[in-house]
Amino acid sequence: MFVEDLAAVVLAAGKGTRMKSERAKVLHEIAGQPLVYYPLLAAKEAGCEKISVVVGHQGEEVAAALSELNVNCVWQTEQLGTGHALLCAADNLKGFSGDLLLLCGDVPLLTAETVAQLLTLHRAEKAVVTVLTACLTNPQGYGRILRDGENVAAIVEEKDASADERSICEINTGTYVFDSEFVFSILPQLGKQNAQGEYYLTDVVAAAANAGRKTRALCLADPNEALGINDRLQLAEANGLMRQRINQQLMLGGVTLVDPQTTYVDAGVEIGSDSILHPGVNIRGKTRIGRNCIVETGVQVVSSQIADHVHLKSGSVVEESLIGANCKIGPMAHLRAGTELLGDNKIGNFVETKKARFDVKSQASHLTYIGDAEVGKNVNFGCGTITCNYDGVNKHKTIVEDDVFIGSDSQFIAPVRIGRNSLIAAGSTITKDVPPDSLALSRTQQKVIEGWRKKHPLKKK
Ligand code: UD1
Ligand code: MG
Repeated sequence: MFVEDLAAVVLAAGKGTRMKSERAKVLHEIAGQPLVYYPLLAAKEAGCEKISVVVGHQGEEVAAALSELNVNCVWQTEQLGTGHALLCAADNLKGFSGDLLLLCGDVPLLTAETVAQLLTLHRAEKAVVTVLTACLTNPQGYGRILRDGENVAAIVEEKDASADERSICEINTGTYVFDSEFVFSILPQLGKQNAQGEYYLTDVVAAAANAGRKTRALCLADPNEALGINDRLQLAEANGLMRQRINQQLMLGGVTLVDPQTTYVDAGVEIGSDSILHPGVNIRGKTRIGRNCIVETGVQVVSSQIADHVHLKSGSVVEESLIGANCKIGPMAHLRAGTELLGDNKIGNFVETKKARFDVKSQASHLTYIGDAEVGKNVNFGCGTITCNYDGVNKHKTIVEDDVFIGSDSQFIAPVRIGRNSLIAAGSTITKDVPPDSLALSRTQQKVIEGWRKKHPLKKK
């Protein structure tokens, strides 16, 4: 659903000095996504079609992080303040005369519902500026709202504020709706005679009030939405709040979280109903977990697709993998990138897989490494099987066809193919292809010398 005559600009050019970081502030992550991702998503969900992001500090990296969101990046090569930053988007908005939503890239908890409310108020009141505010018990660091009845007379930054003004608890969240023609006519007139020597976007409010235009404020019901990230303490606080929000949504959607306090799920992860997450799990990236799954303590899943009725046992790590229905994984299994289990598979303790495709009902229950492999149906890997896939220069493939039974402690020197319904004897090192329906064994015959031990007693030291 797109709202007519609405465009958005997100400010994301600042370095974020208070983060004390080499990375641009808006690239620091909460719940697996960079800070700037969240206001962008809120703008999109609130119906903004045309979104510009002002980038500058590490702008290439910021633009790359947003490549999937279909936004326009505009450059602010020198960071001269928030007012100057918006002016940098003017060219991109030439010919647009509707309402302009302005969001800060470092305010991640703002919701689409709040953005929609702000726009509704702005339009109902026919204001030229409507600012989103919050009342905080500790307003330190934020710009303060100076009211004049229903109008907002000015916003004064902490560093420029008098003692009286600093005692005001209503703060500027850095979120506004502007009449776009008005704001772009005022911005070039702003000065920078202030404590930071910057062009303040907040000065647009006083300019509007002085010109006798309507300025309005919407005060947030939940002040947490206003949290602006300027240092690592606020980053951790926002991360905690975002995690609470994600966990609540999961639980309301029918997922059991045994201990929400210790459950870490990234934004955008999907989990089906009746699945259970035990304490201390970490579900990251673009992951989808189906219905009726069990995820035990200490499991980490990264960017993987997991079907229904899958049991991930304690301590298992699953990365960029695909797990079909009814699989049992772990405890302590490691499924590395490119693992594909088509269903009803068992990958047991201390088994590592990589770029390995298992057709249905195949299993490796203990202490095994299977890499660069294609495995048919109903294959059983004995304990301690190893695909020797790497010769020091190249990787080679092991192919195991349907119904093969592999005895324990076998090695496959790839490239090698095992024909269907064959049996590999325990302790074999397989270097040559095995035709279907065969027995392959490659171990030397056992030799027994009776009485040998009596003639060679252990010498005492
Ligand atoms: C700003 C507001 C303040 C408000 C607070 C809310 C101003 C002058 N002050 O202060 O009233 O309470 O946000 O969090 O606007 N940016 C640029 N280019 C620049 C400067 C900043 O793109 O030249 C971007 C930053 O990347 C950031 C956002 O604008 O995403 C806000 O900048 P920041 O320096 O954090 O402003 P605050 O001091 O927090
Ligand atoms: Mg800030």
